[in-house]
Amino acid sequence: MALKPVRVLISGFGNVGRELVRLITEYREVLARQGVRISVVGIVDSRGALVSRQGIPEETLLQLLEVPRGGVSTFKDGRPGLTTLGALDELEGVLDVLVEVTPSNYRDAEPALSHVKRALDVGVHVVSANKGPFALKYQELASAAERRGLYLGLKATVMAGTPLIDLLRYGYTGRSVELVYGVLNSTTNYILNLMHGGLSFPEALAKAQEDGYAEPDPSLDLEGWDPAAKISILSGVLGRHIPVHQVTRVPLSPAVQELVEAEWPVRYIARLDVERGAASVRPEPVEPGSPLARLQGARNGVHIVSDGGKIIYLEGTGGGPRPTALALLSDVALIARAL
Ligand SMILES: NC(=O)c1ccc[n+]([C@@H]2O[C@H](COP(=O)([O-])OP(=O)(O)OC[C@H]3O[C@@H](n4cnc5c(N)ncnc54)[C@H](OP(=O)(O)O)[C@@H]3O)[C@@H](O)[C@H]2O)c1
Repeated sequence: MALKPVRVLISGFGNVGRELVRLITEYREVLARQGVRISVVGIVDSRGALVSRQGIPEETLLQLLEVPRGGVSTFKDGRPGLTTLGALDELEGVLDVLVEVTPSNYRDAEPALSHVKRALDVGVHVVSANKGPFALKYQELASAAERRGLYLGLKATVMAGTPLIDLLRYGYTGRSVELVYGVLNSTTNYILNLMHGGLSFPEALAKAQEDGYAEPDPSLDLEGWDPAAKISILSGVLGRHIPVHQVTRVPLSPAVQELVEAEWPVRYIARLDVERGAASVRPEPVEPGSPLARLQGARNGVHIVSDGGKIIYLEGTGGGPRPTALALLSDVALIARAL
């Protein structure tokens, strides 16, 4: 019997959106073995979209991967000016899942917040790597999804390469998580490791940019917005959301030099105290030789303290386009199987 496809609209076609499309074509057989077939019915970038109610053919998907940034609507049958909201309207009755991969914005979470709200309003499941909407409005969006019986797939937002969100969501059901703390941002960890190796803050930042670990504009990482958004999302997953603007943020700045020169290694720690309803991100000394002190490269690690002091430590890959796209694919596949 032919598998009924789950139909997805991809909002954003940059590093992650493209990697997801690549995976959907590469993993077709793996998915089929698991009873999952994915049909991409629309792709949107900042300038327009390509939409097909019958599904964009695989050959076209592969050709789209070669189109330069902002070029989706220049492709044959592309629609310059068609936005994600417009595509959601056009695909009404056809669409199952919105995949939200436009840039994260922690001021007002737009345009992603409007995309997610509209999708939930029209009965479409949401899978996102974009942290903005959930770091600002977790409760509102989770309630809207619950009312409509829709799934919010957020695996890709925090430690995308490691199933932390699913562990907290499902593995700790019925238990009491008291504290979550660890390293959730690879850029700052890379910089701190270089500083412990003897580089100054500006030298370490320049090297991190050269090595592809820091963006040309590194402010979202250095000012702590990225790990603050992640710890905020974890608080939402644990049922007591602390919006990102209420997370105490101490940026990583040249002032960290003094801490680095002291005895203990320094890590940029994101911390969530569930009982107190408090969250912070700040540079903190950690015990020499401890798991967090040993973290290198793109590895992230968290301690979860629960049920009167039981502790586990979870370590794995953080973000990066491939792990993030795999996390998105996994959430889409979960929805497909539930459908
Ligand atoms: N990169 C990672 O490793 C990683 C890891 C975890 C989470 N994330 C999150 O995943 C999301 C995507 O990251 P990325 O690295 O793929 O970003 P990116 O390369 O900057 O791609 C963003 C895409 O969104 C499109 N876009 C911008 N405004 C839009 C709008 N109003 N409507 C529709 N599309 C719009 C851009 O269009 P143009 O092509 O026209 O510029 C681009 O295609 C972000 O929220 C990021 O925080 C990324």
